[in-house]
Amino acid sequence: MRPLRIALTKGRLETRATSLFQTMGLDCKHLIKKGRKLILPVDDFEVVLAKAADVITYVEHGACDIGIVGKDTIVEYDPEIYEMTDLGFGKCIFALACKKGSDFYSGYTEKVVATKYPNVARKFFEGKGMDVKIIKIEGSVELAPLLDLADAIVDIVETGKTIKENGLMVIEEIMPISARVIVNIASMKLRKEEIESFLADVELAKEIIE
Ligand code: PRP
Repeated sequence: MRPLRIALTKGRLETRATSLFQTMGLDCKHLIKKGRKLILPVDDFEVVLAKAADVITYVEHGACDIGIVGKDTIVEYDPEIYEMTDLGFGKCIFALACKKGSDFYSGYTEKVVATKYPNVARKFFEGKGMDVKIIKIEGSVELAPLLDLADAIVDIVETGKTIKENGLMVIEEIMPISARVIVNIASMKLRKEEIESFLADVELAKEIIE
């Protein structure tokens, strides 16, 4: 049988997840000195580095058994997976933001909202009974209101620096976000013991880190 595969979101969650693995007693030397390699042996596991949305895809389709990914991506894609635990790091918020001094809710014209998370934005405005036009942007979403493409953005805010340094302001906080462990549904049945043992070690390491 192949090693259990853990899909890990590249970038902001990577360092914290590596410390979590180290606290779990896993040998992370290959992960730390990874170079450009995308599949790394970590003890008896294989760690696969991927973009957040792809972590979801790999876990949902069973190419990976376990994933570490932000709640933001889980909420956006609403995948058929088990969400097992909140890792308590990678904390940020989904927020609605616009140019400082502008009044997003005033006027009667249809508002334009730019976001990397069109489903989250759609649901948020549906909940308000408000019709908005949503434009999907792939990154640096804060540009959209500055370039007058959109009246506001729905995006994740961590330190608030990007918003501040680009003359934007948060109008509403939508929901808190943090890193989660997700598990493929079939793997949870077929490799229950191994996955439960991994999850138990995660819980112990979480307590130590906290
Ligand atoms: C995220 C988010 C904001 C920024 C917020 O982008 O989309 O742009 O981080 O962080 P802050 O509140 O600490 O400033 P990310 O760095 O993931 O890159 P992207 O914009 O290319 O998606």
